[in-house]
Amino acid sequence: MTNAQGLGALILAAGKGTRMHSARPKVLHTLLGEPMLGHVVAALEPVFGQQVWAVIGHGADDVRAAFRDQPLTFVEQTQQLGTGHALMVSMDVLREAGVRRVLVVNGDMPLLSVAMVRRFLEEAGDAAVAIATLQLPAAGAYGRIVRKERRVTGIVEAKDYDPARHGAETGEINVGLYLLDMEMAARFLPRLSNVNKNGEYYITDLVGMAVAEGLSVVGVCCGDDPAFLGANTPRELVASEERLRARIVDDLLDAGVVVHHPALVTVGPLARVEPGAELHGPCEILGRSVIAADASVGPHCQLRDTIIESGTVVQAFCHLQSAHVGPACTVGPYARLRPGAVMEARAHVGNFVEMKKARLGEGAKANHLTYLGDAEVGAGANVGAGTITCNYDGVHKFRTVIGEKAFIGSNSSLVAPVTIGAGALIGAGSVITKDVPDGMLSLGRGRQVNKERKQ
Ligand code: UD1
Ligand code: CA
Repeated sequence: MTNAQGLGALILAAGKGTRMHSARPKVLHTLLGEPMLGHVVAALEPVFGQQVWAVIGHGADDVRAAFRDQPLTFVEQTQQLGTGHALMVSMDVLREAGVRRVLVVNGDMPLLSVAMVRRFLEEAGDAAVAIATLQLPAAGAYGRIVRKERRVTGIVEAKDYDPARHGAETGEINVGLYLLDMEMAARFLPRLSNVNKNGEYYITDLVGMAVAEGLSVVGVCCGDDPAFLGANTPRELVASEERLRARIVDDLLDAGVVVHHPALVTVGPLARVEPGAELHGPCEILGRSVIAADASVGPHCQLRDTIIESGTVVQAFCHLQSAHVGPACTVGPYARLRPGAVMEARAHVGNFVEMKKARLGEGAKANHLTYLGDAEVGAGANVGAGTITCNYDGVHKFRTVIGEKAFIGSNSSLVAPVTIGAGALIGAGSVITKDVPDGMLSLGRGRQVNKERKQ
């Protein structure tokens, strides 16, 4: 596959992330419920489309699995010999895809944004090498930008920096975002050496080589916003996450979402909250959730990959995952909707009700202490307090079907597979093991006996 401009993007994500002190590859650590690598991909995809690759190595299988359904292709770097080596192992794949200029970005930059990528590409022009830089009070552990008469002449890693040789420190650092001409890279990569303090092949050494050969090298200063810095440690990760969170909530407020206690509201980057919706912190709206206009989510709720239609109220302390709640419903307080829970218009689910792979028809109600699993509840039905669909015999799952306008008395057990007909009435405390025809009254419980007391 080729693209007209020959532009491609390569994310360096093979490293271990030692400073996270975790067996999980660093790029799979999450911010706002999405893996770090996902944030980087989201910033690149609108600009590069399908031409985005990630170099993976440490925990490669886990990374592949996490991104199975995404427009991302992988290159494997089996030994992590440095950022320059990561580019080396990717060159063939990039060339075969028709890439002539490659944007290389460190995988640990979750705050990279589409706007930043666009601006960098613009300012990079057609230089053989462009690098993004930041001006910090102190350069810390970052690669130092060396300039001579204001022109970039090289990048020197912190451990290799020698003021006597490289000049006094300026605080200008290498962000880890580069635009490289592929011919330039092909020419200089074979000359990279790993004779340095880390014993690694540094991508940053390409800069000095290009300058030495008289090629055009551009440093694009991105100001002093630490947002662009990599997340190497748990502390840096949560600081980046907090910035992202605040940015998203701020955009929602601007767009017309009422966000109460905004500092306590988390909305994931893939979630959509429509103007006119209302969120009450603390709450988390994660994954590909959608909250429609005039819907409201109360405090202490967590929603993941869940759709809430207009006019619906989710009251406090609800937990919803991969559920679809139709318009003008009420949910909670203290409700749990698990994957495959569907509520049609004006349905009600109340406190301590759990649904899994279950559908509540239009206007149907399950208001108290109920489990609906593998169930279909018809429109207008009423499921009394304490009703349980017994869907599991220890080996297999079975379905329960409740007809329209049926009325299930409190504390009933519906032993699946079982069908309750439309308009049927189940007496409270029944254990129902056989189908109930439409409109019938069914009682499945011990008969009450009243006896004289012995005095
Ligand atoms: C790198 C830069 C440094 C810059 C800093 C910004 C180099 C040599 N140094 O340092 O100038 O200031 O980023 O955050 O590039 N990776 C691989 N394969 C490898 C090694 C690393 O894919 O063999 C990946 C890592 O997963 C990571 C990225 O490259 O996402 C950067 O590597 P890291 O070790 O974090 O580099 P820094 O020391 O932070
Ligand atoms: Ca880093």
